[in-house]
Amino acid sequence: MTSETSMRRSTTLIACLATLAFAALASFRGDSAPAEATLEEHAEEQAADEHGAPAEAEKPHMRAPIGVDLYVREDAWLRAPGPEWFKKQSDLQPGRFTFNEEGGDGEGEWVDAQNVYRLIYDEEEDVYAYWSWAGPEQLTRGRQDFLQFCSSCHGIDGDGYGRSGQWLRPSPRSFHQSNFKFTKVIQPLPTDAALMRLIKRGLEGTPMLPWALSDEQLTDIIQYIKYLSPEGEGWRDPFTGVGDVVESGEDTWVGKEEYAIERGKRLYHDPSGANCALCHPGYVNPSALGKLLGDDSVKARESYYLPVLKDSAYEVQGQPVKIMPPDFTWHQVRAGTTTQDLFETIASGIKGTAMPQWKGALTDEDLWALAHYVESLINDYKGKPDARAEFMKGLREAK
Ligand code: HEC
Ligand code: HEC
Repeated sequence: MTSETSMRRSTTLIACLATLAFAALASFRGDSAPAEATLEEHAEEQAADEHGAPAEAEKPHMRAPIGVDLYVREDAWLRAPGPEWFKKQSDLQPGRFTFNEEGGDGEGEWVDAQNVYRLIYDEEEDVYAYWSWAGPEQLTRGRQDFLQFCSSCHGIDGDGYGRSGQWLRPSPRSFHQSNFKFTKVIQPLPTDAALMRLIKRGLEGTPMLPWALSDEQLTDIIQYIKYLSPEGEGWRDPFTGVGDVVESGEDTWVGKEEYAIERGKRLYHDPSGANCALCHPGYVNPSALGKLLGDDSVKARESYYLPVLKDSAYEVQGQPVKIMPPDFTWHQVRAGTTTQDLFETIASGIKGTAMPQWKGALTDEDLWALAHYVESLINDYKGKPDARAEFMKGLREAK
């Protein structure tokens, strides 16, 4: 796409969104509230409505470092998941989502307890995009909780450079990039549910701990994080897909784990299979590789027992970050080490890094086999230096 079309596209969209945002605001706040009313004005108005006289605007709780603004005074339209997801949600939670159809041509909006989701048609591009509306009240609640719980690492403005985050490795994520690694979704962006699952689980072996905040608090924080996407990118780009955690189905190898590990091992090392050893370490002696694969012409790359440092799309304070793929017998795997977790990680890949998405490229059966193989490496050698030393010695001596 040329930058000219993209400019035209975004101008049309902005105009279109501005109108819609205004319409949504008017309908949300009751017609008397002007769209540009500030939060305090709005709060006063509400208080006046309820008690007959303007009350003092609610005091913010002391949740931020001194001098830091607690309020967000804007509204945001954020890219929402597609129609299938809404149908699924409304099936799962009857009455939670309802669809207000407008013209009978499928256009309209989904409404849930927190948000309005609107289907927008872009004539020029011939696409439909779903947007969700996050209002200033919700974003403000999200910002307050973000400042209290997350900003020490993720930064007061969400740039990943909080006061205690500066010295952490891995660095806390910058939310100005809209890249997420471990949410295990196939689409570029995760759904709120996928993000919530990640935040509740935390990332093993990192300072990103499991958070036991309420679903309401997390929903607000998540809207705020999404709103930190730069204009026209991430959740503020109408063309970026949003998806749920990848479906794993049943483990096809139950009771046959040994065969799964064997199959996984071959795929892992096979350059015309999954070729994981292209980046991750190889766990066979290079001279035994031909035998494992039944093809003597296959050659191992240099430094086969070491991972290969890779470029990534991540930045810390504008500096690009290179990432080392983990050695499963040594490094911490962060997004979970059960067979199911490993299936999901391998299937979805790790966005913004060299780690590819394998769903579709490999069958689910092979994905499960790889998950079993990686799991066996972790279980047998991770955190067991003696067993690992023995294993590496055996590898070097094997022919
Ligand atoms: C003690 C520091 C710390 C705090 C506090 C913290 N985080 Fe993190 N967070 C991290 C680090 C470090 C990472 C990156 C981990 C990695 O890349 O392996 C991270 C990553 C993330 C990610 C990205 C996950 C992905 O898939 O890329 C999200 C989302 C996130 N944190 C949300 C939150 C939220 C929400 C809060 C507050 C409720 C919070 N964090 C509080 C340190 C922290
Ligand atoms: C082109 C390079 C490349 C290939 C090929 C590759 N990976 Fe990765 N992989 C990476 C990188 C880089 C990371 C580290 C990402 C990070 O930590 O940000 C990674 C991380 C992982 C993780 C750890 C995720 C976590 O939760 O911490 C697993 C598991 C994994 N890869 C499995 C595999 C498997 C299985 C294959 C083969 C099917 C494979 N990888 C192929 C580059 C690669």
